[in-house]
Amino acid sequence: MAEKVYQCTVSAPVNIAVIKYWGKRDVGLNLPTNSSLSVTLSQDDLRTVTTASCSKSFEKDTLWLNGNAEDISASKRLSVCVQELRSVRQELENNNGSMDKISQLKVHVVSENNFPTAAGLASSAAGYAAFTEAIARLYDLTWTPTELSRIARQGSGSACRSLFGGYVSWEMGQLHSGADSVAVQVEPVEHWPEMRVAIMVASAAKKGVSSTSGMQATVASSTLFQERIKNIVPGRMQAMKQAIRNRDFETFANLTMTDSNQFHACCLDTLPPIFYLNDTSRAIIRVVENINAAAGKTIAAYTFDAGPNAVVYFLEENSSFILDALHAVSKHAEGWNESARNPTSVKIDDVAAETVS
Ligand code: ADP
Ligand code: DP6
Ligand code: CO
Repeated sequence: MAEKVYQCTVSAPVNIAVIKYWGKRDVGLNLPTNSSLSVTLSQDDLRTVTTASCSKSFEKDTLWLNGNAEDISASKRLSVCVQELRSVRQELENNNGSMDKISQLKVHVVSENNFPTAAGLASSAAGYAAFTEAIARLYDLTWTPTELSRIARQGSGSACRSLFGGYVSWEMGQLHSGADSVAVQVEPVEHWPEMRVAIMVASAAKKGVSSTSGMQATVASSTLFQERIKNIVPGRMQAMKQAIRNRDFETFANLTMTDSNQFHACCLDTLPPIFYLNDTSRAIIRVVENINAAAGKTIAAYTFDAGPNAVVYFLEENSSFILDALHAVSKHAEGWNESARNPTSVKIDDVAAETVS
């Protein structure tokens, strides 16, 4: 008789930071040097879908990411998430004799991103949020998103924010254990439902320097970065939260662009320097500057993660004007390349990780 297979499928959204996480104060526990804040995008557009299963017939904990097999035990960040959840399941099984002993079984995880992986569109965020959620649900753990965020954070820092919808902060915390380094929702999507984003893929290629190694090089060598984490980000986090509470788009937008620029300046201040932006990215920055100049106020805000791809925030009322301008640049901008994707308007979402089946 075939062995019983336990299975759970979830999907998780991407989040794009408007105050960037960049820097670890503890590499082992993945604790950040600064708090950060992001907006969760609708899963109607970008998403990770992950199925976790376990069975007596499985021999190894294995992840198939976009079809490529990876040994989970060979990856510290994947295995830390599995081990933590598995030990909690084991404890439940020990206390409740009627529960199936599935913590003893190996897991198989199959995950697909419907957008470029490792290209600066937060694949590690959606990826580890889905990974953590899928295994937690496979094990029937009824954890809050904040509790799950502490696990997902250890896979990839930005992943902790993808367990919530709307406007989300990752509070850096104070404790050496990392117990207080978790994500919290600042405001739900209904608070400011007019927010939209356009995603412009300037290059879908895998980045040359991963976020993990890039930020460690910055911590080790950049003096500008020290100024950023001590004297800039704490005040900026407060100002950003206030701008969101007030639905003050101009302040939100100016802080977003300034913070993206400072993050990339820190990359340039790293030894050896890291260049995530390309000519296409810079063309998009110029277009957004032109849009705002034509409007006579800030109605669009660009931001770039660790990669060349742009995310432009704007309000629904300005949607057609901004999308037309972004479409036009995709035809005429110097440095624009063939893979540039036509931007569409994406909503933000209040539904974070969802069970698909
Ligand atoms: P990004 O800018 O896309 O987040 P990172 O350098 O932060 O790029 O992380 C990319 C890495 O995240 C991938 O090489 C892979 O190890 C991991 N990752 C991406 N998607 C998934 C997924 N769906 N499941 C598990 N891990 C993933
Ligand atoms: C520029 O969360 O990918 O996107 O914790 O090492 O996996 P690791 O890094 P990751 O870094 C994200 C950096 C960023 C900014 C952000 O999302 O806040
Ligand atoms: Co990442």
